[in-house]
Amino acid sequence: MTAQIIDGKAIAAQVRAEVAEEVKALAAEGVAPGLATVLVGDDPASAIYVRSKRKACAEAGITAWDHDIDAAISQEELLALVDSLNSDSSVHGILVQLPLPPHIDEDTVVEAVSPAKDADGFHPFNLGRLLAGTGAVVPATPAGVRELLVRSGVEISGADVVVVGRSNIVGKPLAALLFQKADGANATVTVCHTGTKDLARHTRRAGILVAAIGRARSITRDMVASGAVVIDVGMNRTDAGLAGDVDFEAVREVAAAITPVPGGVGPMTIAMLLKNTVALARAAMPGPRAG
Ligand SMILES: NC(=O)c1ccc[n+]([C@@H]2O[C@H](COP(=O)([O-])OP(=O)(O)OC[C@H]3O[C@@H](n4cnc5c(N)ncnc54)[C@H](OP(=O)(O)O)[C@@H]3O)[C@@H](O)[C@H]2O)c1
Repeated sequence: MTAQIIDGKAIAAQVRAEVAEEVKALAAEGVAPGLATVLVGDDPASAIYVRSKRKACAEAGITAWDHDIDAAISQEELLALVDSLNSDSSVHGILVQLPLPPHIDEDTVVEAVSPAKDADGFHPFNLGRLLAGTGAVVPATPAGVRELLVRSGVEISGADVVVVGRSNIVGKPLAALLFQKADGANATVTVCHTGTKDLARHTRRAGILVAAIGRARSITRDMVASGAVVIDVGMNRTDAGLAGDVDFEAVREVAAAITPVPGGVGPMTIAMLLKNTVALARAAMPGPRAG
């Protein structure tokens, strides 16, 4: 078997086109959605991510408010900036790019962003709502993983999903998203991590296997069931370039479908961030609120 390649770039382009339509609809109602991005310091990877996010905003017609801040900013000054964005009615979404410099407490900053403007969906209020199944803003990478599955026609309901990785930004929210009693969910989810005994025993029984580990090519062919759908969240810089967490060339021989790196989950993360921003802009409109 040679796996179908799930084309994240193409699916993300569809989502972005839909976002652009929603931006037009909002404009007709007098709302210009705006996303404020805050980049602290000059971490090269963060700078690349933020640049792509800003470019994607512009393409979708979302106003990007760019804040590039010196790494020496104090926590108080950063919190004051977040506060001013919270009270700026032209800003509908706020994204503070992580990681932050070590002298700044990330949790404090994440919790300072108004939940109503939390474009990343990392605020504990939104994570709690996600767990309760009442959330409107879902962290962009897990939302992108689900969107890839749904739009590729993969049946999630009833599937055995194994997520390798339990970070707060990928593994945990993805598990919470996929086990909900809801459309595009309703799976039986196992979450694996470094405390898991015999990882391969779990990954081999996955109908849908998601790797969010951060170690290049650590999911090997013998760890994947024939006919599984494999979603590779990993983005690892290696001497040979960017590599996923999955040994793509070997695993594609046994999987039914697989995402490449790059061109899989990465473009979806940006598309879902834009989707979150327009959803927040709509939710901020006066009048009866949906959801
Ligand atoms: N495509 C995108 O848009 C996107 C977005 C976010 C992240 N990423 C990429 O996705 C990967 C994961 O990111 P993250 O932020 O979730 O990473 P993270 O915070 O470092 O978490 C990694 C998780 O993998 C687990 N893990 C590590 N080695 C393992 C092993 N040998 N066996 C089983 N579990 C293991 C860790 O377990 P413990 O909890 O026990 O330590 C942890 O839960 C990275 O490559 C990152 O660059 C991509």
